[in-house]
Amino acid sequence: MKRVSLVQVGFGTVGGVLIEQVMGNRVLWRERFKLDVSIAAVAGRSGATVAPDAGGLDDDVLRRLVNDRRRGASGGTATSLADALPGIVNSGPTIVLDAAAGEGTVDLDVQALGLGAGLVLSNKAPLALPVSDPRTQALWSETASTGRLKFEATCGAGLPVISTLQSLLDTDDRIEEISGALSGTFGAIFSAVGAGVPFSEAVRDARAQGYTEPDPRDDLSGLDVARKGLILSRAMGKMIDIDDIEVHSLVPDPLVAVSIDEFLDRLSDQDLDIGRQAEESLATEMSLKYIMNWTAGGGVTVGLRRVQRSTVLGALQGPENIVSFRTGRYDQYSCVVSGPGAGAAVTAAGMLADMLTLAHRLAG
Ligand SMILES: NC(=O)c1ccc[n+]([C@@H]2O[C@H](COP(=O)([O-])OP(=O)(O)OC[C@H]3O[C@@H](n4cnc5c(N)ncnc54)[C@H](OP(=O)(O)O)[C@@H]3O)[C@@H](O)[C@H]2O)c1
Repeated sequence: MKRVSLVQVGFGTVGGVLIEQVMGNRVLWRERFKLDVSIAAVAGRSGATVAPDAGGLDDDVLRRLVNDRRRGASGGTATSLADALPGIVNSGPTIVLDAAAGEGTVDLDVQALGLGAGLVLSNKAPLALPVSDPRTQALWSETASTGRLKFEATCGAGLPVISTLQSLLDTDDRIEEISGALSGTFGAIFSAVGAGVPFSEAVRDARAQGYTEPDPRDDLSGLDVARKGLILSRAMGKMIDIDDIEVHSLVPDPLVAVSIDEFLDRLSDQDLDIGRQAEESLATEMSLKYIMNWTAGGGVTVGLRRVQRSTVLGALQGPENIVSFRTGRYDQYSCVVSGPGAGAAVTAAGMLADMLTLAHRLAG
């Protein structure tokens, strides 16, 4: 039986479901792959709970940690994961799963790779650091399809966006253009706007349905989409910085720093302009979409665009994501990946598929 130990960093919405999926799939993996997967440690911001032996944490302990976090109770002990990690990696093949949010885990991610562990990210922040940060090189040097860092879930959650791009690159296809609707939030908002709902109301509705971040400006600034464009660009070897990306923010300058309530109230100032753009688009068989576009000659741009309704991108409805690759081989008809681009279950499963790829290699 092959063995692999997981270290779960961040067990919020995605990390909690991921732990449950590991518990639910263990028997299947044992039978199908002769692979024994245990969870050696689980870490949140306040510290880590580390298994006392190589058998990993008990299911009861894991369930309690996940449930405590969901109830808002602070589970776990305050063990430093950075201190515990060398011991875990020394005892056998190890994969760190970073489902945290923000840059606070970057040092740990770099440490894990340095120790020889595998690393799976849904957290975009480590891959979006400035090029000048030495940790950028440490992380990106392991991102080729043969490397120990896998990051499918950073772009389109569980959808096979990164793996498709890497397959195209590995078979020496020439990537001409990547276009995508990579934000479920914008998808939901502009589908409603296209159906005649005022922009500010569409934003409120999307927020009420849980499609936006608690502060919708985090989505409407376009930064999250820009980060995904940055990751796709870097995955093709173009090591650009976020400042190199032209981002069209839908947050007007005077509303950047006001309270969320004031922001939502004053957003109606935009309704007329965006409503007019939507009507003009409709009249010319186009639809308004918030698009990430990369071209070989032009780099990454992110913003509101009019797209032919007859294209797969233009016909997209609701919070679905879509990414279209136009390449030397997929020239007349693009290679298209689409489906739900957010959600705990699909994101966690995307991370686990990456984990299994690494596990077969590291424990093989
Ligand atoms: N949700 C989705 O559909 C989706 C889809 C694709 C990608 N992602 C990405 O996946 C990541 C997780 O998303 P989520 O929705 O699960 O977010 P979340 O519910 O806010 O959970 C984030 C978790 O990260 C932990 N954390 C933050 N900083 C940490 C640190 N320095 N060390 C250890 N843990 C830390 C938090 O710990 P505390 O419990 O202590 O606060 C929390 O448990 C994010 O980066 C997100 O962008 C999410």
